Amino acid sequence: FDPFRIPSKFACIQGMAQAEQLLARHMADGGKLPESIAMVLWGTDNLKSEGAQIAQALALIGARPRFDDYGRLSGAELIPLAELGRPRIDVVVTLSGIFRDLLPLQTRMIADATWLATIADEPPEQNFVRKHSLAHQAQHGCDLETASLRVFSNAQGAYGANVNMMIDGGTWNDPQELAEMFEAKKGFAYGRSGAPVQHRALLESELAGVELAYQNLESVETGVTDLDHYIDGLGAMSRAVEKARGQAAPVYIVDATQGSTKVRSLGEQIDLETRTRMLNPKWYEGMLKHGFEGVRHLENHVTNTFGWSATTGSVSPWVYQKISETFVLDPEMRARLSALNPKSSARVADRLLEACERNLWTPDAETLAGLKAASNDLEDRLEGLIPAE
Ligand code: BEZ
Ligand code: MG
Repeated sequence: FDPFRIPSKFACIQGMAQAEQLLARHMADGGKLPESIAMVLWGTDNLKSEGAQIAQALALIGARPRFDDYGRLSGAELIPLAELGRPRIDVVVTLSGIFRDLLPLQTRMIADATWLATIADEPPEQNFVRKHSLAHQAQHGCDLETASLRVFSNAQGAYGANVNMMIDGGTWNDPQELAEMFEAKKGFAYGRSGAPVQHRALLESELAGVELAYQNLESVETGVTDLDHYIDGLGAMSRAVEKARGQAAPVYIVDATQGSTKVRSLGEQIDLETRTRMLNPKWYEGMLKHGFEGVRHLENHVTNTFGWSATTGSVSPWVYQKISETFVLDPEMRARLSALNPKSSARVADRLLEACERNLWTPDAETLAGLKAASNDLEDRLEGLIPAE
């Protein structure tokens, strides 16, 4: 790939259309035009799409890439308000460590865009970036350049928010702890110089104004319940938004994996993936052909589903109910999974019970009793008290 040509012209056209689609969906759901949006950017996804997601961020702000006479990316420029046709929307961007490493020019370009928007001589009600930068400056007593920072990632050499590991290990009590871990790990601002500066309080105050959070899906192979990195990024960020503003913001998925782009609420996306993957016999039988590893994948899906509950609360109760019925409460399937992978199958039952204990899901008494009995049964199998069939 040519890093000097990301985002490409094509990606800019696509990114603009996708950004408008996201705004339209939010308003169709009863929201107003948001003043501030938070998004997660991944490196590999932007390489695949020639930077369509980066272009979305620029489009929301009302900016585009600036190229030098040799066609190399050299910064951002603003699209005039008259051409944009709506106010500039503020965008808080959290980058994966991989994005930061792969796309340093683009990291600085987004910082350039929020800086240019901040200093534009425009009315604040037409330029929410400027409006909020001025408010941050007043709140934090900082210079305007600092108040214009919107790109956050890890410290150099660090990756991820660690929230996926907290969820996997069950090492949290209050969901606020998940938000705090995210802020601690992702609280490094990347400005026009490209050098990160720790600005956790600034990140928190910016997240407090966020009206919706989103991330793109770029590969059919990986959905939001396949990879715990989505929970670590988008989930944890959404939890940090909720902590900062005292109320959850809607979470969306922009699905660009097939032909035309679709915007779904996170809940819709989880419903869809649960139906087409986890509960689809074609999918899970395919997984189970891989024996031990297949059951481990099933377990990962359950953990990831749980992770979305812990970070966003966006999982419908039927998802847990059907997963319980299909893989744990059904005695034949339970024995089968246990024979293939005793540890993972026991963990599936325990994770479902953990969801109950943490009040992320409240099943009826019969289901709960069934899960407890099944968990004991799987524990016995794991210890070899019940021989595998
Ligand atoms: C990335 O490309 O930025 C990325 C890919 C997988 C997990 C996390 C980040
Ligand atoms: Mg895992």
